[in-house]
Amino acid sequence: MVNKSYAVEVDQLRVSRGGRVVIADLSVRIPTGQVVGLLGPSGGGKSTFIRALVGVQVVESGTVTVLGQPAGSPDLRHRVGYVTQSPSVYADLSVEDNVRYFGRVLGAAEAAVQEAIDLVDLRAHAHDRVENLSGGQHSRASLACALVGRPELLVLDEPTVGLDPVLRRDLWDLFGRLAAEGTSLLVSSHVMDEATRCDRLLLMRSGAFLADTTPAQLLLETGTPDAETAFLALIDRAEATTRSGAGGGSAA
Ligand SMILES: Nc1ncnc2c1ncn2[C@@H]1O[C@H](COP(=O)(O)OP(=O)(O)OP(=O)(O)O)[C@@H](O)[C@H]1O
Ligand SMILES: [Mg+2]
Repeated sequence: MVNKSYAVEVDQLRVSRGGRVVIADLSVRIPTGQVVGLLGPSGGGKSTFIRALVGVQVVESGTVTVLGQPAGSPDLRHRVGYVTQSPSVYADLSVEDNVRYFGRVLGAAEAAVQEAIDLVDLRAHAHDRVENLSGGQHSRASLACALVGRPELLVLDEPTVGLDPVLRRDLWDLFGRLAAEGTSLLVSSHVMDEATRCDRLLLMRSGAFLADTTPAQLLLETGTPDAETAFLALIDRAEATTRSGAGGGSAA
């Protein structure tokens, strides 16, 4: 039933927020040891989906299994790292004190604290208060706090927003290294060119997945030169299918 080769298994998930259905009926399998991109336009349901995975979202129905356990299980607190879209570190503490604090919560040793700071390349700012950091340094401090527990699954909600191209590249390099060491990563973004840095892609729109594929397969199937054009082609295709009626007439 529960398959170890999947970091996440979602079956018939339904979520409403503010009285509106945000996710109607979503099923997906996310493999382990890969960087999986969750991409799609603003308001499409990325954060809602992520919240359901980390167990902070009330779900109406369906099942969400993370690392073999129901989402939100106490044991998963140590096994899943989560960085929210909004700042989650303490502004009046230094980078090091923040990472140490989160490390204590997770039972991590001091060596893990220092390693997490090095991983996100914040050694030179380890003693700076977070409120005095730049935007990019701030998000890397959040990432260090999620990394310190050496999570098996790392869930990052738009970690590269507002970062310059060099920092974005460095972060994606880090994601790749973590995956190579066996960590499973789910990384949301609405920057489509980041799709090429992922092993797999989930393209989300209006609470549903338009595609669950690889970057190469996405371009091949849509006959497009880049991820952004591919995504637009998939949207056009989905709308054409909707227009052709509920009877499911195929839109050629
Ligand atoms: N706290 C909330 N109360 C009610 N509705 C909400 C709430 N948060 C989000 N929604 C609605 O849920 C839908 C999906 O929002 P969600 O935040 O999951 O999208 P997103 O893909 O993460 O967008 P973004 O790229 O802007 O972060 C939106 O239509 C939004 O209006
Ligand atoms: Mg979001």
